[in-house]
Amino acid sequence: MTTTPGLPAGIAHPFSPAGRIDPYPAYDWLRAHAPVHRDPMSGMWLVTSHADCVALLKDPAFSAAAGQRERARDDDLPVSMLTTDGADHARLRAPGALLLGPAALASVEDAVAADADAVLDRAARAGTLDDAVEQLGVPLATAVLGRLFGLGEDDWGTLAQLARAVSVNLDPLAPPPVARLGRAAMGELTRFLDAHAEQAPPSPLARLAADPRLTRQEMLGVLGLAVVGGWQPLAESIGNALYWLLPRPDARAALRSADAEGALTAMDELLRLEAPIPFTARVTLREATLPGGTIPAGQRVLAVLAAANRDPAVFTDPAEPVFDRTPNPHLAFGGGPHFCLAARLVRQAGALLLTRLVHRFPDANPGSSTPSWAPTLIPRRITGLSVELGADAGTGRCPVTGAGVGA
Ligand code: HEM
Repeated sequence: MTTTPGLPAGIAHPFSPAGRIDPYPAYDWLRAHAPVHRDPMSGMWLVTSHADCVALLKDPAFSAAAGQRERARDDDLPVSMLTTDGADHARLRAPGALLLGPAALASVEDAVAADADAVLDRAARAGTLDDAVEQLGVPLATAVLGRLFGLGEDDWGTLAQLARAVSVNLDPLAPPPVARLGRAAMGELTRFLDAHAEQAPPSPLARLAADPRLTRQEMLGVLGLAVVGGWQPLAESIGNALYWLLPRPDARAALRSADAEGALTAMDELLRLEAPIPFTARVTLREATLPGGTIPAGQRVLAVLAAANRDPAVFTDPAEPVFDRTPNPHLAFGGGPHFCLAARLVRQAGALLLTRLVHRFPDANPGSSTPSWAPTLIPRRITGLSVELGADAGTGRCPVTGAGVGA
């Protein structure tokens, strides 16, 4: 039986090899016994209850800027919303809405719906998917960013390649050689976006680039953050969702009969159960008191969103999917001033793809592979998830308008 400092015998530390695969026993124990806990193994404070995470994310004593700066390899990144606090952050966030706010979303909605259909058309031709993330999540995430950025489809391959390379910057425990490659790729991505922004066609990116409130470097910082923080989490959220959805015929049937709001509710529940970004870092600028305890100044702190999302004080049957759970105050998108700017976009894009998938392939089932959780810390992601799509019931698209199911 293994012993981990700060945890009872037999419970793997969430950063250990076994704990990275299944961190939930540790999260459950910590939340119940020490919701504000100084972890002797990492030297960081782990905050695991819903009430404590909500309070932390709102409290200016916890600095996101300092929390992100601690990740030394991010030094080369242009300043962005996640590396600033207070007034600096608000100044960047307001124009950031030009890229990710409701008007931006509305302007790409129809194109993304058509892209989701094209992704499913390709899947239908394959019949069996060897890897749902690569064959569904990655093309969806690439299309979403491609549309927001006004990139021609010829450039989507380059975008996906660069996005994949910079995504290692998400994982705080990536080995140094991998992290170095991620840093170099960030420079390449920034140069690619800079050149594209020069002559971008009308698009949310073009509106952001033309906004006088941001310097060129700041504008590139916002774009870079959207790629690093958005591409892989969105792609992986599809795999994580299918992991829970596919083996449950009742849930698939319920999603088939759900209206647009019901589909968003189901997507929220899937994000709650398996948050692609399981925690986010802060540093205390001064002593800070949370409902579950006090943290001294100058400490590194993780708000463990994935633990808060399974807090039995807030969610009944927290480890089970309840696809019509309402309200669902999950923290998969964080909270407070840094709440994910793309939350609506992610919920909508995910709900759209999943709804169309269950309509079009009513018998879709997990394939014969045994999927496994990757040992990365961020994002939380499933690997090797194969899918037997079964019979193709067709798109249900109107031959006149082209509008499809779940539109
Ligand atoms: C499933 C997919 C996604 C998840 C789970 C997610 C989650 C999060 C979380 C937890 C934060 C807060 C971080 C913190 O407080 O330290 C955040 C912030 C942010 N996210 Fe997302 N995100 C997703 C996709 C996206 C996408 C697709 C984009 C852009 C295209 C995006 C853009 C942003 C931005 C710009 C911020 C920073 C907001 C700020 O600091 O004011 N995210 N996201």
